[in-house]
Amino acid sequence: MRKTYSRQIQPGLAFRNFRIAGSLLLAGLLLQGCKPLPPSKPASEFTQQEARGSAVFQAHCARCHYPTTTQGLHGPGLQALTKMKAMPSGAPPTDARITQTILYGHGMMQPVAVSDTDLRDLLAYLHTL
Ligand code: HEC
Repeated sequence: MRKTYSRQIQPGLAFRNFRIAGSLLLAGLLLQGCKPLPPSKPASEFTQQEARGSAVFQAHCARCHYPTTTQGLHGPGLQALTKMKAMPSGAPPTDARITQTILYGHGMMQPVAVSDTDLRDLLAYLHTL
C-alpha cells in the first residue's frame, strides 16, 4: 500500500521541483538582465579632487555626455563608466584608455585639451560615476 502511494506521488513531486528550479532560473536571468547600475557616489561625499574633477567635467565634457545615465547625448552617457566591463567601443574602461580617448579623441569624439592636473582630477571624478 505504502509503496503504491509513493510511486504515485513521486513523479508529481519531481515535476514540481523542476518547475520551481525553472522559475528560479528564469527569475535569476531576468534580474541579471535588468540589473541596475552600481550607484554613483553622491556629490556631498566627494573628495576635493573629485569635486575639482566634477568641475572639469562640467567645463569640458558635460555638453556631450550625461554623467548620471548611460543614455546618449552627443556621446554615450558615462554613468558607471569605470565599473563596466567595457566602454561602448568595447575597450576596457581603464584610466589609460579613458585618458587616450580624452587626449586623442575616439571615433566621432574630438580630442579635448586638458592639463595634467585637470586630467587627474577628471579621472578621479569619473571613478565616482
Ligand atoms: C563635442 C562632443 C564631445 C565632448 C566635448 C566630449 N565627448 Fe566623449 N564622446 C563623444 C562622442 C560622439 C563619443 C562616441 C565616439 C564614437 O564611438 O565614435 C564619445 C565617446 C566617449 C567615451 C567612450 C569611448 C569608448 O571607448 O567607447 C568616453 C569615455 C568619453 N567620450 C569621455 C569623454 C570625456 C571624459 C570628455 C571630457 C573631457 C568628453 N568625452 C568630451 C563626444 C564628446
